[in-house]
Amino acid sequence: MKDSIVLYSSPGIGHLICMVEFGRLLLHHYPSFTINILIITPPSSHTIPYIHRISTSTPSIIFINLPTISLPPSSTNHESGLPFDLIRLNNPNVHHALNTISLTSTIRALVIDFFCSPALDIASSLNISTYYFLPSGVAGLVVLLYFPIIHNTTTKSFKDLNTHLHFPGVPPIPPCDMPQAMLDRTSSTYKFFLDMATHMQKSKGIIVNTFETLEPTAIKAISDGICPSPPVYTIGPLIADNDQTGGDNDATKCLMWLDSQPSCSVIFLCFGSFGLFSPAQLKEIAVGLEKSGHRFLWVVRSPPPQDPDFDVLLPERFMERTKDRAWPLYAEQRMNRVFLMEMKLAIPMDEGKDGFVSAAEVEKRVRQMMDSEEGKALRDRVMVMRDAAKAAMSDGGSSCVALAELTESWMRD
Ligand SMILES: *[C@@H]1O[C@H](CO)[C@@H](O)[C@H](O)[C@H]1NC(C)=O
Ligand SMILES: *[C@@H]1O[C@H](CO)[C@@H](O)[C@H](O)[C@H]1NC(C)=O
Repeated sequence: MKDSIVLYSSPGIGHLICMVEFGRLLLHHYPSFTINILIITPPSSHTIPYIHRISTSTPSIIFINLPTISLPPSSTNHESGLPFDLIRLNNPNVHHALNTISLTSTIRALVIDFFCSPALDIASSLNISTYYFLPSGVAGLVVLLYFPIIHNTTTKSFKDLNTHLHFPGVPPIPPCDMPQAMLDRTSSTYKFFLDMATHMQKSKGIIVNTFETLEPTAIKAISDGICPSPPVYTIGPLIADNDQTGGDNDATKCLMWLDSQPSCSVIFLCFGSFGLFSPAQLKEIAVGLEKSGHRFLWVVRSPPPQDPDFDVLLPERFMERTKDRAWPLYAEQRMNRVFLMEMKLAIPMDEGKDGFVSAAEVEKRVRQMMDSEEGKALRDRVMVMRDAAKAAMSDGGSSCVALAELTESWMRD
């Protein structure tokens, strides 16, 4: 029988692309694997053409659509915008899919996106080795893994704490910069993250989309055992292949324009899948950018409901609540700001009390980044990390070695 690696992606094109790139990386080194990717349905209209392109270009990657389920009206998805219930309710489908795959191949490992944590129990009952997959870095992983320990030291919610939170190997984090889903101790999302952290400890290992040179202190906190963890494999950075994500006309035009600008002269603004701003905030950013006098390339999101990706998976109320909040952003982005500043790879934007960022602040920070000595040092450091990332992924590099260790352990079992 063929050796199969099953990947279980959480909804959201970003998570899927990262998982697919991991599958492609495995195939690059181990072409004999079959990669089965479990997809929660219905896939969004963004996702469908992407899946089609990957299936065509890489026949060893097989997508398996889990049957569509309907969410109960009381679903916590509606409060948090996170697909927890959807994933929990898919457990029987995952069970069925794993059984079906194992009729025709030997499942060497199941790799689950960290949001798909409930699937760990299913895989254990089937005696399948399960690994977690984190599309972000080890600093965030430390926070997750250490969270149950912090939880036991206090009876308060993070949102009610006044002191910074201390996790091993990462800078102190202001409680308000913790992911929103973890702020309120009584919420169902908080409980989900607590369960996730406990489950992760029971997995065979955690695969992280980062590389050693980028996060030495967080990685050391784990390897020294200060932060309890199963083995961690830093195999990144995985970067989406433009040809596969479907460089459309706009993307091609942007790249042509970029190529015609002086080297390192353009500011790129991108706020992620849910980075929506109020019209007033958009205008303020535009004014600040213009005053800075620098060239820029800015990804502006159209708000839902034009965007079916969020339409399917995220309740409108979530988008409504977040749309006026500016840079604070969502999910773990505030926490990432703390990490990136520590790495000296970022400068912060100061927000007003209501989360609004003024044009003057935008202008000041753009000038600081592009015109100051401090900004130059920071941009030089980014280039150093870019080269370190390339080295990590090349033959004999740390990420390449970690991947080899991981797959060798799969074939030994
Ligand atoms: C589970 O897997 C292990 C090692 O792969 C094997 O030794 C054990 O017999 C299996 N148990 C069951 C119940 O299949
Ligand atoms: C937290 O406390 C609970 C209840 O005493 C205990 O079961 C659990 O193991 C503790 N967790 C950690 C990570 O210390």
